[in-house]
Amino acid sequence: MNGIICGTGSYIPSYTMDNNDIAGLVDTNDMWIRERTGVVKRHIIKDETTASMAAEAGKRALENAGMKAEELELILVATISSNVILPCTACEVQKSLGAVHATCFDLGGAACTGFVLAYNTASAYLEAGVYKTALVIGSESLSALTNWKDRRTCILFGDGAGAAVMKAGEGKGWLPVTHSDGGKGEALTCRSRYCSNGLTSKLRPEDMTDEANFIQMDGQAVFKFAVKRVPEVIQEVLEANALKGEDIFLYILHQANKRIVEAVAKRLSEPIEKFPMNLEEYGNTSSASIPILLDELNRGGRLKTGQKLVLAGFGAGLTWGAVVVEWSCPVKQPYGS
Ligand code: UT7
Repeated sequence: MNGIICGTGSYIPSYTMDNNDIAGLVDTNDMWIRERTGVVKRHIIKDETTASMAAEAGKRALENAGMKAEELELILVATISSNVILPCTACEVQKSLGAVHATCFDLGGAACTGFVLAYNTASAYLEAGVYKTALVIGSESLSALTNWKDRRTCILFGDGAGAAVMKAGEGKGWLPVTHSDGGKGEALTCRSRYCSNGLTSKLRPEDMTDEANFIQMDGQAVFKFAVKRVPEVIQEVLEANALKGEDIFLYILHQANKRIVEAVAKRLSEPIEKFPMNLEEYGNTSSASIPILLDELNRGGRLKTGQKLVLAGFGAGLTWGAVVVEWSCPVKQPYGS
């Protein structure tokens, strides 16, 4: 048995902030942000929540797969920004979709590696025959974890959700490769949290003073980690599956920084065209970035059955990992069609 993707979906909040809006909050400018990160704007929740975005992305993925919610046996949500501690976001998605037969749980804390780890977890269950169907979601309201007074971090992040429906298929699965290095965890932390972003909600920015309640990052340390470890883990996953770079149609990397993606392409001696990016539009949406990009490629008709993709995530923990996906999603369905 093998876990295969049979539908994708995403949800993006309509409210946006461009770099000039951010320059109204902290001492920065559009040119610096574009050149150092590639980000031009980010979408921020207003009425949405992590759970509502996850449910909408999941609903769209089910429609894309031509599957009913009642057919789902597993719902996994990767998130570091759930609205409440209990119930978990996956159970809120279950309630919203009416996926009454699904077992539901969240993968918290794996941050920007979260979707890759959730995909691997679902694949393992499907390959073992424990479940026959799964909905895997990455959903984040990072605006609520962002210190909007810290120019080193607030330029980067955005909100959104992406989802993939998976089912058990014939054949052997691909081996994933994943790593963690807790010894370097101080490079990217968030000790506690406020339940609001202070921008589009009632909690006032002046009341949100404890820096430990926001994401704190040693940007250069994370940057160096990413440009070294991501090419390594991609090489490892190719070797583990007896594949070469030429076998891979696209590398779908966590969308953290354009310069990281470019550096990974260079170290792998692969053309940058094989590394699609959308961080210009969304910023870094942590666990949601890979499935949002996957959904855009799918709905845009870029992916064909049999093509091999590598998904690679990296981030807090520190954690990183890569997985090979053989595309098998037959239904192309652009939004609005
Ligand atoms: O999702 C996974 C986790 N996150 C990441 O992968 C992020 C990885 N790191 C990065 O993307 C980059 O390190 C950043 C985008 C966060 C920062 O870029 P950088 O090129 O590493 O900048 P830096 O921290 O080395 O700062 C360079 C200069 C400093 O000024 P001085 O000391 O050279 O005078 C900073 O004070 O740029 C200054 N600076 C800014 N200037 C304008 C830092 N942030 C800003 C800003 N606007 N927003």
